[in-house]
Amino acid sequence: MLNKLKNVAKALLAITWIRRVYELVNRVFLESFGSSRIMSHLYYTASFITFNREQTAVLRGRRNYYRNKKRDRLTHVELRRNVHRLEKGLIMRPRRDVFARDYITETIEFYEQAVAQCRRDPETMELSEMEWAHDVLTEYFRTVTTGDAMVDAARERFERADHAAEFTGKVPYVKKALSSISYQELDDLVMQRRSVRWFEDREVPRDLIDQALLIARQAPTACNRLPYEFRVFDDPQLVSEVSSIPFGTAGYGHNIPSIVVVVGKLESYFSPRDRHAIYVDGSLAAMSFMLGLETLGLSSSVINWPDFEPLERKMQKKLDLDLTDRVVMLIAVGYAHPEGMVPYSQKKELDTFRRYN
Ligand SMILES: Cc1cc2nc3c(=O)[nH]c(=O)nc-3n(C[C@H](O)[C@H](O)[C@H](O)COP(=O)(O)O)c2cc1C
Repeated sequence: MLNKLKNVAKALLAITWIRRVYELVNRVFLESFGSSRIMSHLYYTASFITFNREQTAVLRGRRNYYRNKKRDRLTHVELRRNVHRLEKGLIMRPRRDVFARDYITETIEFYEQAVAQCRRDPETMELSEMEWAHDVLTEYFRTVTTGDAMVDAARERFERADHAAEFTGKVPYVKKALSSISYQELDDLVMQRRSVRWFEDREVPRDLIDQALLIARQAPTACNRLPYEFRVFDDPQLVSEVSSIPFGTAGYGHNIPSIVVVVGKLESYFSPRDRHAIYVDGSLAAMSFMLGLETLGLSSSVINWPDFEPLERKMQKKLDLDLTDRVVMLIAVGYAHPEGMVPYSQKKELDTFRRYN
């Protein structure tokens, strides 16, 4: 017995030393290669595999962006972006007599393509997106003055596209000034939301998830692209398989009733400069989703998604993800167990995380 204890103590000491040596080597490495951009570049040239999945996803996403332009799709990201740019032009103060000269022709091309798809099979397109595009373009051509050759040519093409749509009023408007929700009520809601890891053994109704998702989609996204997909799993076998993939569910994964994987779609961008938008947009939507769940009596917890190749591979296979799809985070959802506790999780003080000017 004594010998056994001695061996355990020796093993623990060895682990402590291995950790110390590892940390020391790591620090020497980081002090050198993290000292300048050139040194970092050298490091990543040698260790090119580190972000390879991300790099491939970005590059292939851009490739697919262009490929998709020729394909029938439920929603057309390039049209969404340009229609939104037009909306922004329409709300400018003062509004210019003629604007969007540099992209109105391509917008009409995108629109014509969407109209053609709609004609072939209206079921394959989001009707609301078509209405929005139609209305904003109608408003644009109503507003800009005639006499500019490029705009007039685009106007003619718009009229010729002859999309048999009624004007549904999806154009810029003056927003209602005041919310009926008080600061205190919002504060109560955000205080009510805590990361819950212990749930009742109870099914989560799909209509509640859908209601929370309708809140999520109202979150801001760059150029109104909504470049994400919320993959919801509520089949017990699948929930168990999906929740066991990330590290962060250790110890409580077995009691998660529903799990959502927020997936960012890199095929929404033609430029690498926007590669972070999926994480920003996906997270903003996720936060709204979780607050929405709270109002419906449901609780949630975010689960970290590390960029770690073995897990990436597992998730890609399980969800049949394209290489351009990036997992942003997972969210466990369920009814909080009445006896399950939540950590206190003290927040930082305002003065610590806020700086003016
Ligand atoms: C990006 C992100 C990753 C997280 N990953 C995990 C995780 O893997 N496992 C877990 O149990 N909690 C995870 N959490 C929950 C945090 O631990 C929790 O939000 C934090 O401690 C604050 O607590 P609160 O959410 O109750 O305010 C994560 C939260 C975020 C935003």
